[in-house]
Amino acid sequence: MFPAAVIIVLCCIVVVLLLYSYSTSTYKYWKTKSVIFATPVPLFGNIKDQVTLKMTQGECLKNIYNDFPREKYVGIYQLQTPTLLLRDPEIIRSFLVKNFTHFTDRGFSYDGHREPLTKHLVNLEGDTWKTLRQKLSPTFSSGKIKNMLGMLQGCGVQLIEYMESTINSGKTEFEIRDLTAKFTTDVIGTCAFGLECNSLKDSQSEFRRMGCAVLNSSPSLALAKIVRVFFPKLFKALKLRTFPAEVQQFFLGIVKQTIDFRNNNQVRRNDFIQLLLEIKDQNQHQENAIGSIKLTEELIAAQVFVFFLAGFETSSTTLSFCLHEMAVNQDIQNRVYEEINETAEKYGLPFSYEAIASMNYLEQCLKETMRKYPPVQALVRVCTKQFRVPGTELDLDVGTAVLIPVYAIHHDPQYYPEPDTFNPDRFAKDCNGGGGDNGRPAGVYLPFGDGPRICIGMRFAMLEMKLALAQFLHSYLVTLSDKSCARIEFEPASFLSCPKGGIWLNVNKRTH
Ligand code: HEM
Repeated sequence: MFPAAVIIVLCCIVVVLLLYSYSTSTYKYWKTKSVIFATPVPLFGNIKDQVTLKMTQGECLKNIYNDFPREKYVGIYQLQTPTLLLRDPEIIRSFLVKNFTHFTDRGFSYDGHREPLTKHLVNLEGDTWKTLRQKLSPTFSSGKIKNMLGMLQGCGVQLIEYMESTINSGKTEFEIRDLTAKFTTDVIGTCAFGLECNSLKDSQSEFRRMGCAVLNSSPSLALAKIVRVFFPKLFKALKLRTFPAEVQQFFLGIVKQTIDFRNNNQVRRNDFIQLLLEIKDQNQHQENAIGSIKLTEELIAAQVFVFFLAGFETSSTTLSFCLHEMAVNQDIQNRVYEEINETAEKYGLPFSYEAIASMNYLEQCLKETMRKYPPVQALVRVCTKQFRVPGTELDLDVGTAVLIPVYAIHHDPQYYPEPDTFNPDRFAKDCNGGGGDNGRPAGVYLPFGDGPRICIGMRFAMLEMKLALAQFLHSYLVTLSDKSCARIEFEPASFLSCPKGGIWLNVNKRTH
């Protein structure tokens, strides 16, 4: 008989061997495809630093991107999943735009029955996504967005009022990300859900609390996300949730209340929920059917929810990164201020749609902010129809994951010399090639993605952010506070680019 200790050791060895063999079982994939690949490590593949929260996904992919300067693409493993990492701008355009029909999906798993709010545009696939996207696109037309300007201006006024009273009470140091997050929460609250949330005044705002619950970057949520992405069956089996149950109840509840209120009281507003209700009405004669899914209240709630999910944090971090750069680069802030002042004199206040559109330098600053700090650090696609990569012998199988390392590309010195320098003139319309691309190839500026799945809220976000910055910088001067660092580090547990420790700035009233 073996002593118990020996049996335990033997069992441990067997478990380790099984785990090793499982975790490395796919690691020959790229070799058999004759694709140059980054050497994986057991269990983690090539994303150990991301999984162990040492760095963000974008930073991890940047290291791999930089290790293969001559390759157009590189084979990597996200844990066990073979993934093609694209490097070459032409190939990137080919995947995202020209040959989109081979890469229509992101491959995000979701369970629409258990979590109805996950049945939204970001997750939906194939024909269902296509039909819904076609239906929703007019919602984001310039005309419809222009109609929302009044609501955006209102949120800007609330921001200024809040600043005014806080500064008058003697406080000048602010954690800017908290401020911009409250502002964009109010924007999405009013423009998507038709709610007056005023989370700036009301620090206990339920809407803001739910926003934090959805996007909280705790290590446990980061882990659940990894399980959802790479082990979807385990995610389902363990009945894990994408976000807490109370969040689902809250959002389903407010959308239902809003719809009931509008139907019962004949109320109309120029917001997204109204536009979705109109689409529902237009489809009434088809029994509310859109493609293969029914446009139910739940489906409307899921779309409004994703506008919140995709729109609030992306815009708020961009605003805070931009204000940080203004504080670091006072000469740039002065130039922006001059432009805002001249525009205010020319068009009057509040800033009209035309006035906002005319502020080119402000737009360049926003573009450069999203170049340096892209909120979404990598784009995701999955091969949905077998594909021969142009100019190569590589046939991609259906189901192959594809990553486009936006952060790495935005920091590649061959496209953006001195990538760590904040230089809005990179996007000047009259430079080199013209058109604001400075002679760069297409496919190297991707803060909103590209192709038919490009961010549907891009124009809305640009208007919202330009207006907010114009209103804010017209009244206030920002400088670095003692608590702030000129160089920002990202929070690795966060899915979107998020500054570690927040952004602390001094805000002082301008005397004009
Ligand atoms: C600074 C602000 C924003 C940034 C940087 C941003 C970025 C992105 C990116 C990178 C994608 C993926 C594109 C791709 O895969 O090619 C995306 C998709 C999406 N965004 Fe945004 N976004 C922003 C604001 C917004 C806003 C305000 C909304 C809604 C009101 C929104 C709604 C969406 C939706 C619904 C999708 C999925 C589109 C689809 O798959 O058809 N985003 N966004």
